[in-house]
Amino acid sequence: MELVLRTGTADDTLAVGAAIAPLLRFHDVVVLTGELGAGKTTLVRGIASGLGASEHVASPTFTLVREYVTGRIPIAHVDVFRLDRVQDVVDLGLDELEDGACVLIVEWGDAVEELLPDDRLRVELTTEEPTADPEARRIVITAVGPSWLERADELAIATDPWRPGT
Ligand SMILES: Nc1ncnc2c1ncn2[C@@H]1O[C@H](COP(=O)(O)OP(=O)(O)O)[C@@H](O)[C@H]1O
Ligand SMILES: [Mg+2]
Repeated sequence: MELVLRTGTADDTLAVGAAIAPLLRFHDVVVLTGELGAGKTTLVRGIASGLGASEHVASPTFTLVREYVTGRIPIAHVDVFRLDRVQDVVDLGLDELEDGACVLIVEWGDAVEELLPDDRLRVELTTEEPTADPEARRIVITAVGPSWLERADELAIATDPWRPGT
């Protein structure tokens, strides 16, 4: 199941994250792929705010894992930006997922997808052609595995405002 969305501003992308948040359950895995600057961390910020977390969300560049624990479900946020650390970072994230009841969100998921559980929400963000609107983003959400397929209808309804041409 795949949903194609378009956001026109960073605030829109925040709103998409906040719209997805109510569907999240303990032990979910969300994988975000896209180039640097595509808006992955912005989307995490939206999810965190939708879960009611009040911590500042930034890329976990030096800490490897950041945790936001003040919302409905705690978030473990990892960013696999250094390819030599992929396994370490994913292991850390998966440990968090096992130990604490939380949602694991992984940025730069492309390189790590095969290391992650089969059941996951995949979100791919892309910028448009260089000549087009610099703030526009295409967001493709893919529900992978039974627990996400079960939520596909809800996901489609929640993200309907950003579906182009609807
Ligand atoms: N539609 C949009 N969605 C997300 N971010 C956008 C959008 N338009 C502009 N931006 C800007 O692009 C940058 C995205 O940065 P960030 O979320 O850190 O990306 P990433 O984590 O993918 O490297 C931010 O400065 C944000 O304000
Ligand atoms: Mg980032």
